[in-house]
Amino acid sequence: MEKIIIKGEKRLKGEVEISGSKNAALPILTASILTQGWNTFSNVPALRDIETIKKLLKGIGIKIEEGESVKINADGLNNYEASYDLVKTMRASVLVLGPLLARLKRARVSLPGGCAIGARPINLHLNGLAKMGAKIELKHGYVEAKAKKLKGAPIFFEIPTVTGTENLMMAATLAEGVTTLENAAREPEVIELASVLKKMGANIKGEGTEIITIEGVKELKSTDHTIIPDRIEAGTFMTAAGITGGNIKIKNCNINLLDSVTRKLEEAGMEISYKDNGIIAKGNRPIRSVDIKTLPYPGFPTDMQAQMMAFMCFANGTSVISETIFENRFMHVSELRRIGADIRIEGHNAIVKGVPDLSGAPVMATDLRASACLILAGLAAKGKTEISRVYHIDRGYERIVEKLSKLGADIKRVAD
Ligand code: EPU
Repeated sequence: MEKIIIKGEKRLKGEVEISGSKNAALPILTASILTQGWNTFSNVPALRDIETIKKLLKGIGIKIEEGESVKINADGLNNYEASYDLVKTMRASVLVLGPLLARLKRARVSLPGGCAIGARPINLHLNGLAKMGAKIELKHGYVEAKAKKLKGAPIFFEIPTVTGTENLMMAATLAEGVTTLENAAREPEVIELASVLKKMGANIKGEGTEIITIEGVKELKSTDHTIIPDRIEAGTFMTAAGITGGNIKIKNCNINLLDSVTRKLEEAGMEISYKDNGIIAKGNRPIRSVDIKTLPYPGFPTDMQAQMMAFMCFANGTSVISETIFENRFMHVSELRRIGADIRIEGHNAIVKGVPDLSGAPVMATDLRASACLILAGLAAKGKTEISRVYHIDRGYERIVEKLSKLGADIKRVAD
């Protein structure tokens, strides 16, 4: 196992290039299950979660060729199972359920268990598929779904779910008739998937709004597509500028997808501008405390909550951070406390009292965004922070140690 060692208090300066979006790439790669012929996807990030989905796709007979871009051909699709071994390492594996059912009329996908950030059930995915006529059984830890022909149906989500919306949108592209997804997720990654499905020949309207309408078509063809930049990676680097009092140009990203984050960082005293497809993020002192409430898009993203908490540890005053999406996404709090943060949890709220300094210590990453939070805290803390279990970071941040080093951070990755 490896760990990351950071010597803090370096102001980050320079330019950083944002990689392709993990949460856009995952459903887009699984959408190739629906198509005939070779798809070509560019700007696919080199991440562990992407490796996991490729392994899953290869395991069901899909050909993948790697190079500058990822080429995928599902003509040889011959298996409808996603095993526990893979699903337990990445819940997003469940994104094969809708496409497999639509294409092979059958899917057997391991039920993801709970994860570090919450119970994360998939009942809304399953209810939706059942409404489209699938017979769903839960047997031996697996979802077994069958449908001679999926039929379009009106589906209402009690809670907007990102992968649920994506799964059902993919299933509906080849269903008979019209499906409406009400209270659908509006995340940019959902819009991105819809635009790829449309290039493949799907008939979709309303993506980016609360009601998505999909009229099924007979078949989908392959396509070429470049994955959008990762807005959460961009937000993490913006926060890195804020927490270190640095000045970073974050290249290849779309500031329009980061409105809620930008607004909060500005409230906290940062200066943020946008020029030539890049964000210029400048940190200032004092850092002002701001309150945060995570919400579905366009609200403040839960995937930026942990990083924002690290930032608020250094603020002048107290901030209340409310997590409304996942019930257990405060695992980083006890680790932040180990390095001197003053944080109290009351139900869904973390009350963060800013302190003048954090003092580096060994800490443990518990999930992907918690790892990013601890790295940010380590960048600004006094002395040495050692972060173990860093494999979590490889799931969602491409070459983060290299990118931060280039910006002047004293950071290295070593064998434990
Ligand atoms: N939910 C249900 N039932 C369902 C589905 C969801 O109760 O059938 C609940 C969840 O438990 C949660 C809420 O609905 O309380 C929203 O969860 P959602 O389904 O939207 O989450 P997800 O699709 O599993 C995606 C991202 C997450 C991100 C969330 C929220 C991907 C691959 N994952 O997860 O990304 O936090 O949306 O924006 O797109 C990450 O990248 O670190 C990450 C966890």
